[in-house]
Amino acid sequence: MDNKQIYKQLSSSLKDLKEQNLLRSIPDIDQGADLYLNFQGKKLLNLASNNYLGLSQAEVLKKAASAAIKNWGTSSAASRLVTGNFSLYSELEVAVARFKTQEKALVIGSGYMANLCLMTSLARRKTLVFSDRLNHASIIDGIILSRARHIRYRHNDIEHLQYLLKKHASAAQKILVTDTVFSMDGDLARLEEIVTLCKNFNVFIVVDEAHATGVFGKGRGLAHALGLEKEIDIHMGTFSKALGSYGAYLAGAKECIDWITTTGRPFIYSTALPPGVIGANLAAIEFIAEHPETGNRLLEMSSHLRGKLKQLGFNVGDSASQIIPIILGDIETTLKAKEFLLKRGLYVAAIRPPTVPLNTSRLRLSLRADLKKEHLQQIVHVFEKLAQEVL
Ligand SMILES: Cc1ncc(COP(=O)(O)O)c(C=O)c1O
Repeated sequence: MDNKQIYKQLSSSLKDLKEQNLLRSIPDIDQGADLYLNFQGKKLLNLASNNYLGLSQAEVLKKAASAAIKNWGTSSAASRLVTGNFSLYSELEVAVARFKTQEKALVIGSGYMANLCLMTSLARRKTLVFSDRLNHASIIDGIILSRARHIRYRHNDIEHLQYLLKKHASAAQKILVTDTVFSMDGDLARLEEIVTLCKNFNVFIVVDEAHATGVFGKGRGLAHALGLEKEIDIHMGTFSKALGSYGAYLAGAKECIDWITTTGRPFIYSTALPPGVIGANLAAIEFIAEHPETGNRLLEMSSHLRGKLKQLGFNVGDSASQIIPIILGDIETTLKAKEFLLKRGLYVAAIRPPTVPLNTSRLRLSLRADLKKEHLQQIVHVFEKLAQEVL
């Protein structure tokens, strides 16, 4: 195929996607992490970001980021293993290990990279990786890249998982990986049952707490909320969502973290996060440790709103967190609903396949701790109108 043909094929594929309403484009948004964002000349209530605690504008984080930049400059300029290290990194990793009550922690460039790192350094060709069907794309990509055998179990289906574990009981190396809060459904992994099964079948357990960090278990995650923190082998969490900053961490036993440090290619072959980000991350961990109840308040608010939305007849799936899906089914209705909300002051994400399964297109509401009573009333009012006028 020559270059002309490649361009022709790309433009034809883009046209097809556009016709199916599946073309992705970057929205012209300003202040996208704040309580109110700017879009199409309007100020809209932001129900689409993952800034669950509103920390990205917290003075303590901004000051810590500025102080780190003043001291260390704007870039780490190399991989940690070369010259990209600075003392604030160790401070952060010690703080994360203490916060997560684990032996050791390692900070990685992003949540996506952390999952690639994890899977590629722990799993190899003969490893069996049991993975929930709705796990985040970065977990799936990590498993594919590791070349391990990928065994997907039906979402949160413990009977199916048990069946698969029994079937493969004789395999020498087995890893189970699950999100604890599922990003597009806001439901929770059945962690107690998963841990019991994994102990019975001698399976190494990895949890991705990206959406639970800062919210569940006094901010330490769902494993902590359930008292299972010592049963999990590797805890992954992000600074990029409730912690209002960027990057991710892995925490667990010293030998696991040391192994990932020495073999995790996304960690080894990428420039370390810059000082400003590390400063903000450390301040965020300290903030959560000092304000452990903030996440709980958010969960109470979410439960209240979910109840109201259910009363209005919306399908919110099995959400039990600050992420509330409004499952509408087809793409057209979902996009129409998004436009309707937009005209009435609410910005929500419209999620379509392939991010979610076919015929489960949805609006995804992500609530935040800085929402006030009047905001919640506004949301209920606008959704009432949506139910009456659009659906
Ligand atoms: C469950 C889960 N894991 C990992 C990630 C990736 O994290 P990051 O955005 O920090 O790369 C996300 C991001 O949306 C996520 O939802």
